[in-house]
Amino acid sequence: MVIRHLLLSFALAAICAGPVLSNELRAPEEVLSDLIEKNESSYLTQSEQNIMMMPDNAALWLADEGKALFYEQRGPNNVSLETCDLGKGPGVLEGAYVELPRYFADTGRVMDLESRLVYCLTTIQGFADDDPTVSTRHGSSSDMMKLQTFIAAQSSGYAWNPPMEHPLEKAMRDAGEVLFYRRAGTSDFSCGTCHAATGKRIRASVLPDINRPEEWTKAISWPAYRVGQQNVRSSQHRVRGCYWQMRQPESIAGSDAAIALMSYWTDAARGQPSILPDKKR
Ligand code: HEC
Repeated sequence: MVIRHLLLSFALAAICAGPVLSNELRAPEEVLSDLIEKNESSYLTQSEQNIMMMPDNAALWLADEGKALFYEQRGPNNVSLETCDLGKGPGVLEGAYVELPRYFADTGRVMDLESRLVYCLTTIQGFADDDPTVSTRHGSSSDMMKLQTFIAAQSSGYAWNPPMEHPLEKAMRDAGEVLFYRRAGTSDFSCGTCHAATGKRIRASVLPDINRPEEWTKAISWPAYRVGQQNVRSSQHRVRGCYWQMRQPESIAGSDAAIALMSYWTDAARGQPSILPDKKR
């Protein structure tokens, strides 16, 4: 009886504790080679050349430039971004990105990295919405990509762990799931048409499967340097690109729909280590 009791409490403790989440900074190439070693995935291994070039990823320079921007006194208010709260307290960057999107009480919204940065740039530094620092969202030469790459890199190796405590966090994740599987447009595609089975390909591209967290973690590891575009790209840029691929209306960066999709896709990689910045085809 006592033994049975003990076994039961061990089992319960194991269930309640859940998986042990990694929370240590690691080089992106190290995280990726570890994932490849532990999992059979043609998506993870598809570009040997990219893997070889990861230690020289051009996105790493962008992260350095982003660091300088983050701590520089800038904007009409001439202050740094050190009081920017990305969810773990003002100026706390390590491990912050893997816990986004999350609910912020000061705006009453669930925000992703990009929308939170916009909030900090405009409220703390006083930049206007149409200042290029805020309005230019894409391309390696934009402040936005430099800042995002620096901030995200402070989570490399940390396990994705978006909070699901606030009702809006759960609602956004659930809305994202509906959006992901919603078929529409002239081709009747959903995201799931291409990303919900293992080993699907479009010509040479192997498509990541959202049902396999160990490969999906690479899929959502943005910012990433896209070799084919010679630019560092963001999650918002990827969402926009995939809607374009489906021939559906363009998604709007910072909209609840785009953030909901990211809440769902980050939750799907929960527990797996992030690769930041990543390098992709
Ligand atoms: C017609 C098939 C197709 C559909 C539908 C599609 N995607 Fe993609 N997706 C791709 C391809 C192809 C790539 C890889 C691009 C490349 O390798 O150049 C990709 C890449 C991605 C990536 C990054 C992985 C990587 O290796 O670059 C994510 C994340 C993603 N898609 C999410 C989505 C979401 C979310 C939707 C729905 C809004 C969606 N996709 C709809 C084909 C599709």
